[in-house]
Amino acid sequence: MDSALDHAKNQTVKKSNLLPLTFDSVSFEIGGTKLIKEISTSFEAGSLTVILGPNGAGKSLLLRLGHGLLRPSGGAITWQGTDTGHAQRDQAMVFQRPTMLRRSVAANLHHVLKQRKIARPQRRDIVEDMLQRTGLTRLARAPARTLSVGEQQRLAVARAWSVNPEVLFMDEPAAALDPAATHALEDIIAAIRAAGTKIIMSTHDLGQARRLADDVVFLYRGRMLERATAERFFEKPENDLAEAFLNGELLWWNRKELKPPDHFKVRWQK
Ligand SMILES: Nc1ncnc2c1ncn2[C@@H]1O[C@H](COP(=O)(O)OP(=O)(O)OP(=O)(O)O)[C@@H](O)[C@H]1O
Ligand SMILES: [Mg+2]
Repeated sequence: MDSALDHAKNQTVKKSNLLPLTFDSVSFEIGGTKLIKEISTSFEAGSLTVILGPNGAGKSLLLRLGHGLLRPSGGAITWQGTDTGHAQRDQAMVFQRPTMLRRSVAANLHHVLKQRKIARPQRRDIVEDMLQRTGLTRLARAPARTLSVGEQQRLAVARAWSVNPEVLFMDEPAAALDPAATHALEDIIAAIRAAGTKIIMSTHDLGQARRLADDVVFLYRGRMLERATAERFFEKPENDLAEAFLNGELLWWNRKELKPPDHFKVRWQK
């Protein structure tokens, strides 16, 4: 039996290329508010890109725009220079809050593979392999919606990985995971990358970003303030706000204005 990883490797060689994925002066607005502001950048094959930035910076929106769930209000997003929808087929996304089908864990995996028209025997092998790699074999028959949040996140990763996408968007895939599961997920992410998938992911875990990133996009209030190799970014970012972010000093409120509400005063001063 070919493992899913072999399956992934074999397919990677044969696949047509979608990349680079290019953002050309992309903006996105809702109700007159610009949430993404003139972002121009390109995502190349063969590297893992981490999107960093504080809460509300636009990380999830950027990933959704790339995945094609949102359309830009201005500018253009292209795959190898064209904006055809075919790109959807060879890319997958793991969401910040995964949603599961009202079926068993294994059936959730079978479902996506069936949609991609993978033959039943091969499907069974891939499902088994994915369950094993994500530590979910024991839960294969459990209803997916009864899984803990961390287990659901692992299933979401298994589901996305099982279709062997050329590009995988991940929105804080480790947000609900305990340290051991985070470590296991990082191994999985490294394996997906090694099998040739381009990964574009957001994370709040700077240690994880350092461990995984080849290059970094730093967002702040909808703008891309820096794009750099991980080495350069973590050594010394060029942008002051990026540096403040790395030092844990970039807050969504102004630190100078931080004072306790009046009714806290007594306790606060102790
Ligand atoms: N549907 C929407 N309607 C209005 N505002 C929105 C909508 N979706 C996102 N926003 C706003 O856009 C900004 C960017 O949101 P986004 O979810 O991309 O942030 P993020 O960087 O992923 O933050 P977090 O780290 O908290 O996940 C936020 O200020 C958010 O409130
Ligand atoms: Mg987000």
